[in-house]
Amino acid sequence: MPDADFDRILVTSALPYANGPVHLGQLAGAYLPADLYCRYQRLQGRDVVYICGSDEMGVAIVMRALNEDISPQAIVDKYHPMIRDTFERFGMSFDYYGRTTSDVHAETSQAFFRTLAEKEVFNLRTEEQLYDPEAEIFLADRFVQGTCPVCGFEEAYGDQCEKCGSALSPTELIDPRSTLTDATPELRETTHWYLPLGDFQPKLEEWIGTHPEWKPNVLGQVRSWFQDGLKDRAITRDVPWGVPVPADVAEAAGVDADGKVIYVWFDAPIGYISATKEWAEAQGDPDAWKRYWQDEATQLVHFIGKDNIVFHCLMFPAMLMAHGDYVLPENVPANEFLNLEGRKLSTSRGWAVWLHEYLDDFADLGGPDLLRYSLATMLPETKDADFSWNDFQARVNGELADVLGNFVHRAMTFATRYFDGEVPELAEPSDLDRDVLEQLAAFPERIGASYERYRIREAVQETMNLARLGNKYFNDAEPWHTRKSDPQAAANTIHLSLQLCASLAVLMAPILPFAAARLRQMLRLDGVRSSVPGTDDSGIGWGDAGQPLLEAGHALGDPEILFSKIDDEVIQHQMDKLQATDTTDDPQEPDTNELPYEPVKDEIVYDDFAKLDFRMGTVTVAEPVPKADKLLRVEVDLGFEERQVLAGVAQQMEPEELVGKKVVLVANLKPRTLFGLESQGMLLMAEDRDGRLTPLTADGENGAVVR
Ligand code: MF3
Ligand code: ZN
Repeated sequence: MPDADFDRILVTSALPYANGPVHLGQLAGAYLPADLYCRYQRLQGRDVVYICGSDEMGVAIVMRALNEDISPQAIVDKYHPMIRDTFERFGMSFDYYGRTTSDVHAETSQAFFRTLAEKEVFNLRTEEQLYDPEAEIFLADRFVQGTCPVCGFEEAYGDQCEKCGSALSPTELIDPRSTLTDATPELRETTHWYLPLGDFQPKLEEWIGTHPEWKPNVLGQVRSWFQDGLKDRAITRDVPWGVPVPADVAEAAGVDADGKVIYVWFDAPIGYISATKEWAEAQGDPDAWKRYWQDEATQLVHFIGKDNIVFHCLMFPAMLMAHGDYVLPENVPANEFLNLEGRKLSTSRGWAVWLHEYLDDFADLGGPDLLRYSLATMLPETKDADFSWNDFQARVNGELADVLGNFVHRAMTFATRYFDGEVPELAEPSDLDRDVLEQLAAFPERIGASYERYRIREAVQETMNLARLGNKYFNDAEPWHTRKSDPQAAANTIHLSLQLCASLAVLMAPILPFAAARLRQMLRLDGVRSSVPGTDDSGIGWGDAGQPLLEAGHALGDPEILFSKIDDEVIQHQMDKLQATDTTDDPQEPDTNELPYEPVKDEIVYDDFAKLDFRMGTVTVAEPVPKADKLLRVEVDLGFEERQVLAGVAQQMEPEELVGKKVVLVANLKPRTLFGLESQGMLLMAEDRDGRLTPLTADGENGAVVR
């Protein structure tokens, strides 16, 4: 049931950062579902181009380079081939896998930037940003660490505090320091190009409004961004690694382009376009990319993980709208996250399964298909999902081996033993036989409808249901009895069972491409359309698989075991391996009494203490701050004046708990602005080991000095 509105489909999977190997979480989000979808569409005979590549620019690469103490170029040269090869071994059927350090990409993204600049889409803004005077560079958010203004955590990053989760900007950090040199950053003026996303909001809302069919998790996120109001986004950076801001554009704007690069989230999605250009070039048809990007009859689909929604549903579409020459995505079927053994996956804590290691470990045990199938049955399509090795084993043993493999084996061995390895004749089918034929006819369309709606799990279930039907039919027809009592009935059963196997060899190809090829081989089923790039739409396709595909008298190959069971030791080995790499201190929710006390800080002299001015005050007002879900706005009466304080306690206490309380205020702290409000001091609170807060209270009169 291909969507007749479009002549061709352009599918993309998020470009993975070339800063490390690929893990199962990524696979389940943006890659495996897209591969199944593309293979299905190719079997339908549709014109599909599937594009991916390595995201090789940006701070993520620089961080890794610092970590491994090699250059950014060396990092991407190390990980790009590794990722590409691992994907290939896993059976990812990209038409093209590019990289964003290519010349074509630099030209394409610079031309895109130039077009938008010429159309006066951007705003220029000069602002003060943190600069490392020792390294002589501006510091990207991640390169600044300091004390979180909300919770006091001393190792908060410039973009986020990983303790309390607050989104921060680097200038908000208290006592900031450069992670490169430890130097205290200075504020320096720098000019950047901004994409005024706010101006695009009406157009974006109107466009998204035409897509009520998008997944609810995607629409939900998009609506909440709209509700908050889209903000302008800087789309250039002062980072020593990236696509340079085009010199002519900078010159025209009167800005020194030296050291300025295009923000990675601006160039990376353009990577989809550059990779399509490179694909076209490789086809010997350099203009072919235009059909996929510039012709309204193209259905553009972005497969991504949920952390990329804002970029693919708002920012990139705004860029495409502003440019004007490109199609907009038809769908963005983003997945939620995959957990591992009940815990959040974390590469830094060693709680992850790496794809290349899986492929090595399972090379002789069933290879990529086992993981493709088991992951596909548990994709986080509507909510976060959990991968566990026990579940993996249960899927392989209970479904691939016991249902699919078993059915094929029964049909094949029966045909080999009693029908000379040929497809027996079907004659005078029984009601049971007719019913099976009728049911078979409905499968391609039913499975296809699930793929078309991006319900990949459902498509996988439906596919396995065909094998379930086969097993049930074989059991009900009892050919081991009828073989003697009614040989034609047995012949009919085997004839139809083999037809189901042949249909399975087509319909399971998206999920289990390697096993499907072996099954076709076993059945000597030739002429099936391929699910990988570079084939035409002749041959046996998706829709044909609802009809019998094998002729009576057709000679079969030898029966083989399609799937072997996975032993407990294999699973135990994987569990042990995971435990061995896990560096989480205490994975269980610890008992409060066992939580460590915070160590006492370095010694200070009395004069240090004497600099602090603590005063008694009464809280007169406490209320939430719109859009800042961690902050309360508090007014404190100090007797001689009123102070406004922003306290990062909204998650721990209700405003009512504070109003009327006598509190202790740090009265000489330099004021700071958060969410447009000035904070003129700090309330003292006791923080229990589990993070619970109690305000410090005393009975003194307002304004009394505390010492
Ligand atoms: N590299 C990004 C990530 O891993 C994804 C980039 S998707 C693209 O989260 F559209 F920007 F290419
Ligand atoms: Zn914090």
